[in-house]
Amino acid sequence: RLRGVVALDGPSGTGKSTVSRKLASALGATYLDTGAMYRAVTLAVLRADVEPSDPAEVVRVVRAARLTVGTNPEHPTVFLEGTDVGREIRGPEVTSAVSAVSAVAEVREQLVAQQRELIDEALVAPGGIVVEGRDIGTVVVPDAGLKVYLTASAHARAQRRTAQDVSEGRAGDLDRTHADVRRRDALDSGRKVAPLRRAEDALELDTTDLGVVEVLEQLHKHVESRG
Ligand code: C5P
Repeated sequence: RLRGVVALDGPSGTGKSTVSRKLASALGATYLDTGAMYRAVTLAVLRADVEPSDPAEVVRVVRAARLTVGTNPEHPTVFLEGTDVGREIRGPEVTSAVSAVSAVAEVREQLVAQQRELIDEALVAPGGIVVEGRDIGTVVVPDAGLKVYLTASAHARAQRRTAQDVSEGRAGDLDRTHADVRRRDALDSGRKVAPLRRAEDALELDTTDLGVVEVLEQLHKHVESRG
């Protein structure tokens, strides 16, 4: 059954979210953005006035947080305590704090369990599910039918994130974004639990010089050859 899962991992700014959603739409699949879940619990931590670097307090807040996730690729949603937080979780406060929160083992256990439930629910339908994150191919669904690891140069990734900020109405600052991309790479790759890395059997795709259409073409080819 897990063959119906496409796992898309990689650092931020590789075009992962855009291609994951488009791929899911084209396949008639659902879509799960696991980064949004880590971001939403990080927002809960900030709202509770807890230091992201205090694991015991972080765990306390995250255990009590009520997170609801919608998996329609045309309109993915994240609700915290019944309120849509889709916009707020993309802001700079959450972006700076999310790597510290997501490095806490108990936080990951809780969210991975919820992710697996959402994936099981989605697999009842015939279209399958596209799941994006950092540890989907390595930890969440190691038996996924297709695993892809997206990379791109740090410069290209910072440029994409800045363009995305501007297009979504936030301030765009290339230098700040470049620094943030590097900082999160180091934290996400260097953490003890479920670090960001390519699964051995994941297909690696460098998107530095590829547009969305070209990346999608490659992905469709691999989905088809998966059969
Ligand atoms: O993908 P996005 O940039 O929204 O992810 C935000 C952060 O959430 C990442 O920098 C990482 O710290 C964390 N994350 C994670 N595991 C995942 C998805 C995201 O640790 N599967």
